[in-house]
Amino acid sequence: MCGIVAYIGYREAYPIIIKGLQRLEYRGYDSAGVALLNGELAVYKKAGKVSELMKYVEGKNLSGKIGMGHTRWATHGEPNDRNAHPHYSESENFAIIHNGIIENYDSIKKALLLKGHTFQSDTDTEVLIHLIEEIYDTENVELEHAVRIALLEVVGAYAIVIISKKHNNQLIAARKGSPIVLGIGEGEYFIASDATPIVEYTKNVVYVDDNEMVIVTDGELTIKTIQNELKTPFIHELELKMEAIEKGGYDHFMMKEIFEQPHSIWDSMRGRFDAKTGRLRLGGVAQYEQKFMNAKRIIIAACGTSWHAGLVAEYLIEDLARIPVEVEYASEFRYRNPVIHEDDVVIAISQSGETADTLAAIELAKQKGATIFGVCNVVGSSIPRATHAGAYTHAGPEIGVASTKAFTAQVTVLTLMALQLAYKKGTITESKLREYLYELESIPKKIEKVLLLNDSIKELAAKYKDARNFLYLGRGYGFPVALEGALKLKEISYIHAEGYPAAEMKHGPIALIDEHMPVVVIATKNSSYEKVVSNIQEVKARKGNIIAIVTEGDDVVKQFADYVIEIPETDDILVPLVAVVPLQLLSYHIAVMRGCNVDQPRNLAKSVTVE
Ligand code: G6P
Repeated sequence: MCGIVAYIGYREAYPIIIKGLQRLEYRGYDSAGVALLNGELAVYKKAGKVSELMKYVEGKNLSGKIGMGHTRWATHGEPNDRNAHPHYSESENFAIIHNGIIENYDSIKKALLLKGHTFQSDTDTEVLIHLIEEIYDTENVELEHAVRIALLEVVGAYAIVIISKKHNNQLIAARKGSPIVLGIGEGEYFIASDATPIVEYTKNVVYVDDNEMVIVTDGELTIKTIQNELKTPFIHELELKMEAIEKGGYDHFMMKEIFEQPHSIWDSMRGRFDAKTGRLRLGGVAQYEQKFMNAKRIIIAACGTSWHAGLVAEYLIEDLARIPVEVEYASEFRYRNPVIHEDDVVIAISQSGETADTLAAIELAKQKGATIFGVCNVVGSSIPRATHAGAYTHAGPEIGVASTKAFTAQVTVLTLMALQLAYKKGTITESKLREYLYELESIPKKIEKVLLLNDSIKELAAKYKDARNFLYLGRGYGFPVALEGALKLKEISYIHAEGYPAAEMKHGPIALIDEHMPVVVIATKNSSYEKVVSNIQEVKARKGNIIAIVTEGDDVVKQFADYVIEIPETDDILVPLVAVVPLQLLSYHIAVMRGCNVDQPRNLAKSVTVE
């Protein structure tokens, strides 16, 4: 979602900001803008991509050592030039960029209209900078205080940056609910929604906390709460490497990330177990082991692909550790007055660690006394900071909007978690545990084998790229894979796709099947294999086109399927890790062939920081 980047220091701000905006493009956006301070306060903004903005500013005065930029994902007001950020105040002496939502903007706007303010956009953000100027003028206070007073009045979520023509040596940022990372260089400071625009300039960062303000004046940094208490910044060293945020020879980040999976799965397992001795330890789980052991149930809250990983975890934890699990869409859970007990353990799964609904679900469960465990990818993000304990997935930065390596890393960590709980509970023996761990160790090699199928999957994609609908079917551990396969296809190729439990097909989707309907079936050898084979025959009898994901050497499904993709055999519980990979590749190639913007699909955002 919206990306913010800002600079104050000794260099020209524009090149740093524009590059930063390009690094943030992956978050998803529909317009972009910059503001530069150099005696004058210049604002340039444009609907469309950052490249449009760059064309638009050609020949304009882009000087200034203080500046800020924004990529906007529309919430209030359509995505056009007017509504793009930055926004000026009434006098145009102040400008703001904002990620989040000001919920009470309407009442504030009405009050400001009565005072004679005029607004240029339909956004909530513009109202906030007008309010700040109104307070600055009428109360005759420093800008920092005017911002503080205004923020105490607003309801909602924000990450904001403000610069002003009246304060040529100052930059102010504040956060509540939406992320801000502060980069500290030698005599220069960087602000961004995440570390990707900062990493090439400095490794020293501060993850700004909720209710905090960053004030840089004359090269001096101060961090205070919105209530005006001074804070001591805690400086982290970034582990992020430049290569991790570049395409490295691939056409798209998504392809790079699909191919990184043998490696990223290793990274998510590294140091956590030893198959030979059966030692397995996720520190966060060990720390809260008693809570897990006493839990009458586990609730998993997540969104999107992370929710699919949660579904895999439900199957794993119930199957192996015999603890009841409920998987919840965080957005539903937070508003439906759920029953939460003090002895519940809530697992929040999130790649970005910033998803607004998942964060809200955590807060709700925390208030009710539950223990909250996080499974997140982005180190230092909001969710890991809001949980009692957790396990990072260590997949490295995921830039493609469609999640791939983050999913397999989540499933890997959740598998380890289920095994650790099961062993502790005594629901699996030590030899069974070792067997699973050995098999888990072999998964990266098995995925390497699947990746060798890339060319044949590309040929298959060419055959189906013009389909209007797709159905994905699976049973047991194959069902979450079907859901994830369908999501991958629809989000990047804009082909309507549905994932369904294979047997449920008879209760509806079977009516859709004709010779034009491609049906992808997860038909690997496992306990429900025969039943899936029957489902395949039912589809075939209605002239559906079958693409089956089968275990290497399967010659039964071949008789009915139009195409088979053979994947290496693995244990039933590990099937999702291997079976999802060909589906990622299929979606990728179909989307590329249809000319879609694979890394930045329309309307989607990498992290959904508003509800
Ligand atoms: C967005 C992204 C998805 C992601 C979902 C949840 O929709 O496009 O890829 O699965 O948010 O995000 P999270 O960061 O919480 O995993």
